[in-house]
Amino acid sequence: PVTRKYEFTLGTSAGSPDGFERLMYTINNQFPGPTIEANQGDIIEVTVHNNLDHPQAIHWHGIRQRGTNHMDGVPGISQCPIAPGATFVYRFTLESEMGTYWYHSHYGNTMADGLVGAFIVHAKNDPWVKKRDYDDERVMFLSDWNDYLSEFIVHRMHDYSEGYKGQGIPTQPDAILINGVGQRDCATAQPDATCLTTKPYELQGQIGSRIRLRLINPGAHGMVRFSIDQHVLQVIEVDDTPIEPLYLKELALDPGQRASVVIHLNRGGQFSSFWIRGGLAAKCVFGGHFITGFAVLRYTDFKGDPWSIGSPVTAPWPGLGDGETLCQDIDELWDVKPKIVEKPPPTAFSVQQMGTSFGQFVDRESHEPFIGFGMNSVNFVNMINDPALAHVEDGIPINGSNVATLVYETDGVGGADVIINQLDVGLTHPFHIHGRPFHILARGSGEMTPEKVKDIQVNLVNPLYRDTLTIGSRAWALVRIPTDNPGVWPIHCHIGWHLSSGKLGLIVIRPDVVRSFQKPQEWQALCTGDKNEIGPGR
Ligand code: C2O
Repeated sequence: PVTRKYEFTLGTSAGSPDGFERLMYTINNQFPGPTIEANQGDIIEVTVHNNLDHPQAIHWHGIRQRGTNHMDGVPGISQCPIAPGATFVYRFTLESEMGTYWYHSHYGNTMADGLVGAFIVHAKNDPWVKKRDYDDERVMFLSDWNDYLSEFIVHRMHDYSEGYKGQGIPTQPDAILINGVGQRDCATAQPDATCLTTKPYELQGQIGSRIRLRLINPGAHGMVRFSIDQHVLQVIEVDDTPIEPLYLKELALDPGQRASVVIHLNRGGQFSSFWIRGGLAAKCVFGGHFITGFAVLRYTDFKGDPWSIGSPVTAPWPGLGDGETLCQDIDELWDVKPKIVEKPPPTAFSVQQMGTSFGQFVDRESHEPFIGFGMNSVNFVNMINDPALAHVEDGIPINGSNVATLVYETDGVGGADVIINQLDVGLTHPFHIHGRPFHILARGSGEMTPEKVKDIQVNLVNPLYRDTLTIGSRAWALVRIPTDNPGVWPIHCHIGWHLSSGKLGLIVIRPDVVRSFQKPQEWQALCTGDKNEIGPGR
């Protein structure tokens, strides 16, 4: 097999993606980071040099890591972090993956500072040539962005000093970025700040062609609603699952989620350039504000020369792009059908549940109460130098008061059923499970229990499978994880502020197999720090 090698140097840069200059974390001085592009079956080798002043780790979102749980990149769970100045090599094989993935740091919410990139896996032996149902493809990142470093925002969320009440609520985002560029409203920025006008990202494509956009939301805060004036979005992929095509004018993506849309550049009438819009409804329930990021779609002629210069003058599709649709939390991908029907395996084991909520917890050290996020009422305490994976490998129990853990002792042919009860009212959360896409068997509003779930209708015929699922205000989903990928896999909210405030639990699939894993030597060498050191996540 082909080995594809990458070198990543994590460092700091001053950047102004939305016009407002701030300190950022970058990979090889780039934001977004370099794209990893490979074929199914390839071996990926990424050498990560940590030139930051804090520990780090990189997670490959959606990649299975079958048999390489040690390369999953989560400090305190699947590895000890890479210390400042240290280097670590991630090495794994792309077995059954194909589609749109991404990577990001998994330390605190530092992915919100710029440590993100795309990870594209093509079919086996696909030479990446234009022989598909579309002529070209591009990655398009859609995300919220803040004026401040994540560390500062997380600190404020939990700061109770001098009468300041963080209440666990992050600051509102300041801009939406499309492929790393956004337009901050400089009028609301601090007066002494450098706030400049930015040039929106421009997507150029030949008239008549079809372009596949691989949309990725690497954001920290919430759902981004995506649209292109006058263009229909043909949705063909949800996370990495090919789906029966769906035609939409607008599509919402939550942090962690991906979707591929094909656009046909056939709207050549009056215009030759169009606005691309990414709108975020920042906390509609708490009376927040709307922010939109803009990019440009510009047609070119057959020689590749742009048909026009200057800004588009197009308007959004009627009824879209205003506060109304932004606030509704509509999930257009609720009912999509997978193109390749993968029947979920039978469940041979008990159903377990993960109830998640916002609430009051007590700090271990200071014994002070604080508002945080929990999974089964446990606020994740991240022992960064004592990874949970090592506990399972060594047959030592995971401390259940540090992290909510569901263990599935299976024979490897069945499925692990998880009821995710999202108990917060007025909030929606995208839940991500590492290791493998899961089948969505049923969902509903209110709360579900292992007793009641026996009597409900489930879809065992053609359920959608994906790796990040949005669950609305006080609602639930029943998901089945095929147990063909043993490991210690996080289940967490992909809103970075919630993740870094303890909204993470574990699903342990087949501990008997995990006990036979070999700890790689370079991996063990990372674990030299104090085992009791608590990292972000709390
Ligand atoms: Cu994008 Cu824990 O993951």
